[in-house]
Amino acid sequence: MKILVIGASGRVGTDLVKQLLADNHQVIGTTRQEEKLFDDDNYSQLDLDITAEKDAIQQQIEQDIDAVYFVAGSGGKDVLEVDLHGAVKTMQATEDKGIKRYIMLSTVFSLDTSKWDNPGIADLKEYYICKHYADQWLVNNSNLDYTIVQAGALKERAATGKITINDDNAGENSIADVATTLAAVLNADNTNKKVFSMHNGETAIDAALAKL
Ligand SMILES: NC(=O)c1ccc[n+]([C@@H]2O[C@H](COP(=O)([O-])OP(=O)(O)OC[C@H]3O[C@@H](n4cnc5c(N)ncnc54)[C@H](OP(=O)(O)O)[C@@H]3O)[C@@H](O)[C@H]2O)c1
Repeated sequence: MKILVIGASGRVGTDLVKQLLADNHQVIGTTRQEEKLFDDDNYSQLDLDITAEKDAIQQQIEQDIDAVYFVAGSGGKDVLEVDLHGAVKTMQATEDKGIKRYIMLSTVFSLDTSKWDNPGIADLKEYYICKHYADQWLVNNSNLDYTIVQAGALKERAATGKITINDDNAGENSIADVATTLAAVLNADNTNKKVFSMHNGETAIDAALAKL
């Protein structure tokens, strides 16, 4: 498949692109950095700024893309422009281009405001509000074949290959396991139009996804 990864230079994006290339996909990665991120014949790069106008974003997206991943993020600065407005513009541009599949990396409890007073979330309220409405837009205002992966805290630690989905704890994730889960979502048709939370746990990733 031909896949667009928005946020290819990020911690998750880097692992995700590596896994998609290993799975023999053709990958277009976005970054505002000039240097080419991956030396692979199946990799090409786009200088995309999602704070640009929606039409400009749309013009940069090729027509024959099979799936779009959104793994970009503001890191806490510019949350409105990047995590909310930027994200929604990429959804609109994807849909207007006639591309159906859109896989969003979101954050645990993005759609469950009752959890927002929890430690670790309360300090990130503005970011959470942005992810909340971006995810809501994807579910309620687009006709995209979405999957929203709501990950608990991202940690730079070794992959375990095992996760828990949709429990009551925010939990923590190896970044590599989040990338593996995102890559596996592409091959799991049952994840279409689903929102799920994840953290490292007890079940092999493919088996956990199969239960959705
Ligand atoms: N941190 C956590 O514990 C946690 C937990 C759950 C979910 N998440 C979500 O996971 C996302 C990815 O995390 P990460 O650690 O991999 O992020 P990261 O390393 O900070 O990477 C951020 C990515 O976003 C891109 N980006 C930022 N501003 C942009 C803009 N204006 N236009 C286009 N691209 C832009 C960056 O691209 P450039 O190369 O152009 O700078 C980079 O590829 C986070 O943003 C967050 O929403 C995080």
